[in-house]
Amino acid sequence: MMKKQVVLYKKLSPALMTRLHERVEVTLIDSLDSAGLAQLRDALPHAHGLLGASLKLDADLLDLAPNLEAIASVSVGVDNYDIDYLTERRILLSNTPDVLTETTADTGFALILATARRVVELANMVRAGQWNRNIGPAQFGSDVHGKTLGIIGMGRIGEALAQRGHFGFGMPVIYHSHSPKPAVEQRFSAQYRSLTELLQQADFICLTLPLTAETEGLIGVEQFALMRPESIFINISRGKVVDEAALIEALRAGQIRAAGLDVFEREPLSPDSPLLQLNNVVATPHIGSATHETREAMAQCAVDNLLAALAGERPVNLVNPVVWKG
Ligand code: DGY
Repeated sequence: MMKKQVVLYKKLSPALMTRLHERVEVTLIDSLDSAGLAQLRDALPHAHGLLGASLKLDADLLDLAPNLEAIASVSVGVDNYDIDYLTERRILLSNTPDVLTETTADTGFALILATARRVVELANMVRAGQWNRNIGPAQFGSDVHGKTLGIIGMGRIGEALAQRGHFGFGMPVIYHSHSPKPAVEQRFSAQYRSLTELLQQADFICLTLPLTAETEGLIGVEQFALMRPESIFINISRGKVVDEAALIEALRAGQIRAAGLDVFEREPLSPDSPLLQLNNVVATPHIGSATHETREAMAQCAVDNLLAALAGERPVNLVNPVVWKG
């Protein structure tokens, strides 16, 4: 039997490449520059499966792939895909949840600690040879332990953040999500709040919710106005959940103390972004899940999902189950 054709737009480890080669024909698109995108367009007409991340796969591109059966995204977020379009075409979309939960929550806590204790700013001061006397109140940060941790979006990553805050740092946890989660409340003594209450009460306001039509622009001028001058804003979800201009204004006006940002309205973040002129901003390049171990686990999960789908089996992490006939 002819092997199915898979187009990878992400490099995989040799072990995973070997696994794929045993089962399918592989075309590897090395990078997503203009030459790579042209290569992708050439490969799409033959593709049965696609695997990769960080590329908006819209109808313009996917209309070039009439044989496409499955897309395995190496990410938990699926905002790069038009799910209605995929469902209409009966293309199975899978993602890689679970394996990245703990690592992404670690990133959230790295940003909490870095902003509160001014780690980047003060480390830069030392590196610049400007540590010439004992530091004083002008360099003091604020405590993390015992402060109120506010989590917006109590999914898997929100829970892992709550676990760290509650057990590791003795933080009261408040959260906002679609609906209250009694099991979370019990495990982490967490309390449900309306969005307004959370923004008014939390010392750390952490976004962990996916980007959807409902969450786009959720945090803007009005929401920043509800926060307190000592609040620290953390975003490890998607940049577009926040009105970035409003965030910059809130930081400039001292409406909030600091921001720890792993995601931005546009990525990569422009070197000209006003965010980079603010000492109280810690900006990281979308590293939520970016560890050797976790990225390999995500790639493996995506390969499993794709091979299952192409073999006519239900992928474990199917995003659009309505396509599945069973
Ligand atoms: C994810 O898995 O969604 C990460 O943010 C990488 O895009």
